[in-house]
Amino acid sequence: MGSAKKIRLGVNVDHVATLRNARGGAVPDPLRAAQMALAAGADGITAHLREDRRHIQDEDMRRLKASIGAPLNFEMAATEQMLDIALKIRPHACCLVPEKRTERTTEGGLDVVNGRDRLAPFVDELSRAGIRVSLFVEPSLEALEAARAIKAPVVELHTGAWCNAVVLGETGKAEAEFERLRVAAAETERLGLECHAGHGLDFDTARQIAALPQIVELNIGHFLIGEAVFIGLEASVKQMIAAISEGRGA
Ligand code: PXP
Repeated sequence: MGSAKKIRLGVNVDHVATLRNARGGAVPDPLRAAQMALAAGADGITAHLREDRRHIQDEDMRRLKASIGAPLNFEMAATEQMLDIALKIRPHACCLVPEKRTERTTEGGLDVVNGRDRLAPFVDELSRAGIRVSLFVEPSLEALEAARAIKAPVVELHTGAWCNAVVLGETGKAEAEFERLRVAAAETERLGLECHAGHGLDFDTARQIAALPQIVELNIGHFLIGEAVFIGLEASVKQMIAAISEGRGA
C-alpha cells in the first residue's frame, strides 16, 4: 500500500460517439480518440455500451477491442444480452453499472445489497472467462461488503455526488461526500478489493481523489472530451495525467 502506487487513467470515449451520432455518420471516430488518448499516456480505454445504444455501438466495441492494444474496460448493465456481447468481445475488464433508460448518465451506484443474487452469476461468468469484473458502487460499507460477498475483485466508487457538490459550491456537502469516499477507499483495502473511482471528475477533483492511496484507477470521460474541444484531446489527457500525478504525490 502507499502513495507510491501509480494510478491508471482509463479514458472514456462515449461522448466522441455521442457527437458522431448527432449526425449519424462516421466522424468523429471513438477509435481514433482512443488511439490518441493512449498515445498521450492514458493506460486504458473505457466505453459503455448502453442498452439504448445512445452513444457507443456494438461495432465500436469490436473495433476498440481489435485495435487499441491496451486494456479495454467495457461498462455494461447486468443483462443477458450484454453478457453475451462481453463474452464474445472478451475485453480486459467489465464494469457492471446500473442503467435506466431515461437517465442522462449513470446516476448512482449498483444496488449490490439487494441485487446480490441477480449480480452474482454475472460476476462469476465474466470472471470464469478471464475478464476482470468491477462493480460501480456508492461509497458505502454495505455495498463494499456485498461486492466482496459475491466475489467481485474490484469496485469502482461513484464520485458523482461529490463532484456535483464541488461544482455547485456546496462546501459542507462536498466535504461530507469526500469523507465518504475516503472511508470507503480505506475499507476496500481491509476487504481485499481493488479500488477504482470515477464519474464527473475534472482536473481539480481528479487531483484531490488521487490523494487517496487505495485508488489505483480512475475512469474519466465527459470532462476530458469537453476540454478537448478547447485544447485538443492530447493536451486534455496530458493535463489530466499531470493532475493525477500531482494529487498522488501530495
Ligand atoms: N465510470 C463509470 C462506471 C461510468 O459509468 C462513467 C460514465 O459513463 C464514468 C466512469 C465516467 O464518467 P464521466 O464521463 O462523468 O467522466
